[in-house]
Amino acid sequence: MSLALLFLLFVITISILLSKLGRKYPFPPGPKGLPVIGNMGLMGQLNHHGLAELAKIYGGLCYLKVGQIHMVAVSTAYMAQQVLQAQDSVFSNRPATMAISYLTYDRADMAFAHYGPFWRQMRKICVTKVFSRKRAESWASVREEIYSFIKEISTKVGSNVNIGETVLGLTKNITYRAAFGSISQEGQGEFLKIMQEFSKLFGAFNVADFIPWLGWINGQDFNRRLAKARGALDGFIDKIIDDHMVKRKNRGIENGEEDVEDDMVDELLEFYGEDGSGKSDSITITRDNIKALIMDVMFGGTETVASAIEWAMAELMKSREDLIRVQEELANVVGLDRQVNEFDLEKLTYLKCVIKETLRLHPPIPLLLHETATDVVVDGYKVPAKARVMINAWAIGRDESAWTEPHKFKPSRFLETNAPDFKGSNFEYIPFGSGRRSCPGMQLGLYALELTVAHLCHCFNWELPDGMKSDELNMNDVFGLTAPRAVQLVVIPSVRLNCPMF
Ligand code: HEM
Ligand SMILES: *[C@@H]1O[C@H](CO)[C@@H](O)[C@H](O)[C@H]1NC(C)=O
Repeated sequence: MSLALLFLLFVITISILLSKLGRKYPFPPGPKGLPVIGNMGLMGQLNHHGLAELAKIYGGLCYLKVGQIHMVAVSTAYMAQQVLQAQDSVFSNRPATMAISYLTYDRADMAFAHYGPFWRQMRKICVTKVFSRKRAESWASVREEIYSFIKEISTKVGSNVNIGETVLGLTKNITYRAAFGSISQEGQGEFLKIMQEFSKLFGAFNVADFIPWLGWINGQDFNRRLAKARGALDGFIDKIIDDHMVKRKNRGIENGEEDVEDDMVDELLEFYGEDGSGKSDSITITRDNIKALIMDVMFGGTETVASAIEWAMAELMKSREDLIRVQEELANVVGLDRQVNEFDLEKLTYLKCVIKETLRLHPPIPLLLHETATDVVVDGYKVPAKARVMINAWAIGRDESAWTEPHKFKPSRFLETNAPDFKGSNFEYIPFGSGRRSCPGMQLGLYALELTVAHLCHCFNWELPDGMKSDELNMNDVFGLTAPRAVQLVVIPSVRLNCPMF
């Protein structure tokens, strides 16, 4: 009897649950679209500024449709938590245009692989091996490239230095060295050209991504350009991989010992096996995986770090009292008789606050792009499968309900106890993302960022050119993969240290 009752209860609960799921949830609020093209008229607004404006009208979860693609903009800490934590397994895929799929060898990398066993393997290799603190060579690349960067600036004392340009040169040198080692130096110019073309194609608007049957519009020319770009990368990296294989063989003959100066290609070759016969663990990767992973590092680690360094220096030029405070801290902790080094970083509390505040106001990747794996309900709204989810880290970092004086550069806010941290558990502050898809290069990126800004502030005093006043600095950004300054920062260094610099 009681068993039958229990069963009845069970059936009723299940059917209530099922009917609840089956009920029609509405899409999140959003601007009305036209038939076929949907909100394509808003294409120009699909950046962090435009989406923040839409959020003011429609709220933290806003729905758009462009052509046949569903899109959702996430603009508050609460909604970000729903998406990145509460239902993260549904939201952990990546959207990719046709160009991106093609250029990443059909998502053979980590950044554009969908969430699943393959992605997990790639991520494991990167986190435990390639980006790991244990792999000394990447960190050495950072230190040594910063050294020659500071040396270069010291030759320009008293004249205009374009910080944006030189810093981008620095981070390109760092990632190139970390990836390919020093044996591949000559090819750098050629490689940068290939990357530039990739970057353009990544960002190119292609109608077919949104309305497949209109694919003929961009058509053949676009496809030829894609094939040419990938062909160029193939030629370049194949040669580097071959060189590294020869190097490995010779090394084995010479001493059979592990060489400490392993670059990323060396590290990845440990897992290499064209036919699934790699020797390390049970994971094997192919040439395509190696090429695609190298591109991840180049795109993930170059512009991001450069943009953050330039923004930090721009904010310090704008806010003199903060620059002075950072320099006083450096004078106290390091002293003016030697250069700053990595062991000082832990003690440079205010410098770290400046870095954090810079990443809040200018997250290098302002929009985190995710894709839903299945239909899902968020906060009572329906988000369909394969929707493109844009998490607006920029707008969230400036949210008035989470931050006091959100638009003001105020590093001291991070001195307060309970100040948010960027490790991913404070959803009002997610410059590196949060959860499964968060940035695996955070440690390395922060290291380069902190060390460079420390050196720049410690070695030199800085003035703006042509008697420019600090409030005349243009603080606009432009939108691409990252959000660098619209006008590159130009400043004049003068000597600050008592010791000879080099
Ligand atoms: C200041 C520097 C950096 C910032 C602010 C930054 C930020 C981010 C953000 C916001 C994401 C996406 C998170 C998401 O989608 O939820 C990301 C992903 C990623 N970053 Fe970084 N990053 C930085 C430096 C680096 C460096 C130095 C590397 C490599 C050496 C790197 C490699 C990657 C990769 C491979 C991914 C994709 C991870 C995945 O999809 O599983 N990043 N980063
Ligand atoms: C980057 O490396 C190249 C080639 O070694 C060098 O000429 C250049 O000065 C470096 N750039 C910076 C900013 O250190």
